[in-house]
Amino acid sequence: MDKIKYFDFFSGIGGFKSAVDSIKNLPVDFEHVGFCEIEKNAAKFYSEHYFGGDLNGLQFVNNIEDVKTSANSTGIELNPFDLFLGGFPCQSFSNVGYRKGLEDDRGQLFYNILHLLDEYSPQFFVLENVQKIATLKKGSVLDEMKRALEDCGYHVYLWDLNASNYGVPQKRRRIFFAGVKNTFVKKALTAPDELDLSKSKYPTAWHLLEKDNVDHKHYIPTKTRETVLYKNPKWQGDVNIDNALARPITATMAKWHRANQDNYFSDSYINASDPFVRPNVDLVSEPIRRITPLEGFRLQGFNDDFEDTRKRLKMSYSASYKLIGNAVPVPLSKAVIHHLLSSYLTD
Ligand SMILES: C[S@@+](CC[C@H](N)C(=O)[O-])C[C@H]1O[C@@H](n2cnc3c(N)ncnc32)[C@H](O)[C@@H]1O
Repeated sequence: MDKIKYFDFFSGIGGFKSAVDSIKNLPVDFEHVGFCEIEKNAAKFYSEHYFGGDLNGLQFVNNIEDVKTSANSTGIELNPFDLFLGGFPCQSFSNVGYRKGLEDDRGQLFYNILHLLDEYSPQFFVLENVQKIATLKKGSVLDEMKRALEDCGYHVYLWDLNASNYGVPQKRRRIFFAGVKNTFVKKALTAPDELDLSKSKYPTAWHLLEKDNVDHKHYIPTKTRETVLYKNPKWQGDVNIDNALARPITATMAKWHRANQDNYFSDSYINASDPFVRPNVDLVSEPIRRITPLEGFRLQGFNDDFEDTRKRLKMSYSASYKLIGNAVPVPLSKAVIHHLLSSYLTD
């Protein structure tokens, strides 16, 4: 195999695509043959950012449920591909009970993935989802998913990884399913090697904060401060602001979340010089803000030109945070894709 054709499913703004684009040291080249994304803003962003708005023949499918498979014989036929990439939506998986031959639940996109693997038989796949799926029914849902993927003819590796161990200062745990066709001789693969955060581009969240003036809309409004910053003994988790290691960035951060759930930084911290020292902040009067979209892109490992695309598209803050918060961190995805492919394509 000298070229890996990949299809980017549930593409969002392309965390997986950016990861593939950054992989340089494999004995094969990549060819992007298509992407699939149901949400208009995400598809528009993807098309504009990577292709300047002109897909020039690249296949685009709006809804994965419209793809031709054995369960949908009149659907859209996809270009052939060797690598299936997809961070599928975190729906409720509580009733996954998939066994080949049994009736499946069409409502759950996981089944579309299984049908696609059956129909197109790519050599590899990398799937991503929230860590919470590992805890459903004491792990049995995850076991079922792994078995269902194996039943499609793959060796499957399951890794529970934290983005902060792979080059971005964000505590974001994600489950990855990495699969290779069982025509390959199975190798014992452990998780990809971790990276030293202190040597990464942004060793802490402080390093990626904009030091210049930012839009005043990012500052917590006076009337909202009490809800956001008031410490309620019933809340779980700490209320700390000014975290050197950011909490997981959320898709709904345009709304003002409580400070134990989201990322807020005080002007004192932003303008100080030690990322690991929390300044004494007056929670009543000190200006405190959420992270900006540019900082959000950085926290997910995207390049700064994503912010240029966002501005060009005049994307609202709430639409932007949704795209950013749904994305898969680029360096984490890179580590997983590279690890899987290099393990099977090099000796
Ligand atoms: C968790 S996000 C993945 C984001 C992506 N990994 C990234 O880096 O931006 C899931 C994506 O699947 C999309 N999606 C949901 N249902 C879909 C469907 N039926 N067909 C295609 N895409 C869908 C959502 O709009 C969302 O962008």
